[in-house]
Amino acid sequence: MIRWLKNKKSGTKNEPDSANTGAASQEEAPASHPPAFARTDVSSDPEAYSAATAEPKPSAVDFSRPLLTVTGVERSFSVGGQPLHVLKGINMELYPTQLVMLKGRSGSGKTTLLNLIGGLDQPNRGEIRFKEHSFHRSGDDERTYIRRKEIGFIFQSFALMPLLSAWENVELSLRMAGIPRSEWKSRVTHCLELVGLAKRMHHRPFELSGGEQQRVAIAKAIAHRPSLLLADEPTAELDSQMGAQVMAVFRDIIRTERMTICMTTHDPTIMEVADRVFEMVDGKFINN
Ligand SMILES: Nc1ncnc2c1ncn2[C@@H]1O[C@H](COP(=O)(O)OP(=O)(O)OP(=O)(O)O)[C@@H](O)[C@H]1O
Ligand SMILES: [Mg+2]
Repeated sequence: MIRWLKNKKSGTKNEPDSANTGAASQEEAPASHPPAFARTDVSSDPEAYSAATAEPKPSAVDFSRPLLTVTGVERSFSVGGQPLHVLKGINMELYPTQLVMLKGRSGSGKTTLLNLIGGLDQPNRGEIRFKEHSFHRSGDDERTYIRRKEIGFIFQSFALMPLLSAWENVELSLRMAGIPRSEWKSRVTHCLELVGLAKRMHHRPFELSGGEQQRVAIAKAIAHRPSLLLADEPTAELDSQMGAQVMAVFRDIIRTERMTICMTTHDPTIMEVADRVFEMVDGKFINN
């Protein structure tokens, strides 16, 4: 068993999160998408799945060129006619296949930053460059288009469609991303196998445990092959073992799908698997 899993304590947190706005954005009209390429198959046997995920090896991060660059970003909100300065000059880089975690006290600005990185919101000052795109300059339509093709979102509260099965939830995400119908079956199967749910494909969310629901949400978020996966407290509502499973799945996704993951967490034991941790205090990173 991996060290951070052994030490991890159980704990839950029940806070609504403002990033849930992103769930709606995933249900928008279809966008075009490049054709699928051959995927490596992953065993649907639960024992083989456990063996594969019990000791997720840190992947070698590709530092040759950042996937996303945040420079001097500031974000304020007007509250009761007064400006509330939430982000006060954020600088960060995310690299391909990197697992980055944002930590900080409640209200420190983690979700606000995640929304900016994901193109759901824009900064008042500063720059956000994602691949060749400038999020700080692009309009809503352009950011929505980039988001549908390139970014996946995972939320603390799973954000699944309650009446759809695991399979249908993942398929919906492919439909929304404009992936050709001929590719749905193999991609949905692959994604659900990747998260270890081969035997739960036709269960609806209420027929799944919390950890299983979060794994469906992960399969849904990665189905369209985004290059960046953003997760806001993805383990906060899970017990320690389910949280560990989710982190093992994240490591597997980075290794096999070559995605970058940026997530927020309050859990120090979860942070042990990060390639990099940014700590936010009063709207700035203190360890950058
Ligand atoms: N749309 C908004 N309008 C006004 N204030 C906002 C808005 N969004 C966030 N804030 C404020 O910005 C601050 C940071 O919020 P944020 O959600 O980013 O914190 P957080 O670090 O994610 O906290 P938590 O750990 O509790 O999720 C909070 O004080 C919040 O009230
Ligand atoms: Mg938050």
